[in-house]
Amino acid sequence: GKDCLDLSNLDKQEIFELVALAESYEKGQKPKALKKDVKVANLFFENSTRTVTSFQMAEHNLGLSRFDLNLAASSVKKGETLSDTLKTVESIGMDIAVVRHSEDAWFNTVKQEGVKLALVNAGDGAGVHPSQTMLDLLTIKQEFGKFDGLNVLMVGDLSHSRVVNSDAHVFKKLGMGLTFAGPKEWWNEDLNNYGRYVELDEGIKDADVVMCLRVQNERLDDKEASSFSVDDYVSHYRVDEARAKLMKDSAIFMHPGPVNRGIEIESKLVDGPRSRIFKQMKNGVFARMALLTKVLQANDWMED
Ligand code: CP
Repeated sequence: GKDCLDLSNLDKQEIFELVALAESYEKGQKPKALKKDVKVANLFFENSTRTVTSFQMAEHNLGLSRFDLNLAASSVKKGETLSDTLKTVESIGMDIAVVRHSEDAWFNTVKQEGVKLALVNAGDGAGVHPSQTMLDLLTIKQEFGKFDGLNVLMVGDLSHSRVVNSDAHVFKKLGMGLTFAGPKEWWNEDLNNYGRYVELDEGIKDADVVMCLRVQNERLDDKEASSFSVDDYVSHYRVDEARAKLMKDSAIFMHPGPVNRGIEIESKLVDGPRSRIFKQMKNGVFARMALLTKVLQANDWMED
């Protein structure tokens, strides 16, 4: 469609095409010509380093005109709603808005409220994170050359993670086997649709990809925050050198970032030979170029 909000409604072939396009950008392919001067507004209502910077780089590489809103100094601070903020940038002439916001499925609300410009979801609350899923797929494809039959273990905050929601659906569709480990109180029943809960020290032996998830202190409610113990988490769920010894020789670590070094994963492993964490960040540029290309072509703003 004209937006990029959630990858879960794409079929396998469409996902493969997106991965192939991201791979071709990674190999240096130049983008197709634009049919007009396309203006993109970046609105990040939640903090970001990777996603915002790699969208900016992707927009630059595609030749788009880029407008980065400083929301801390914007009229959002005077109480303007997300829909009115988007209608404002649309009125001023923006064609696309790349938005990260804490409300789950914020895009449904703004569409109901009449926002018309093309929307790209850079993360909605505990909803989904489609551009993260694309860069995760690109990283896995580069490493293993395939998806079907790989085992992915996701470790940590399974209940608040938009990365888990987003990745689990698409990974299963592509034939990857999923297991999940982490504090039982953060187990999310919906994940039974995609894989099973395992003990970390068991699951880690079969995994091709060990994906650590950030402990999201900002999304814990008061009860969760008061019962959370860093020491318990570290002893049961941190991926450390002893646990890494249980892994297959070919297995890799991933983490969407930002990493709480020493909590989800031992710090030296972040920089070690099995880590693809910084590769994921690099791939974020190519993955976002691919997603933006689809939006540009769907709106007839770029040659097919
Ligand atoms: N992985 C990710 O979304 O990182 P940022 O929050 O820094 O964008």
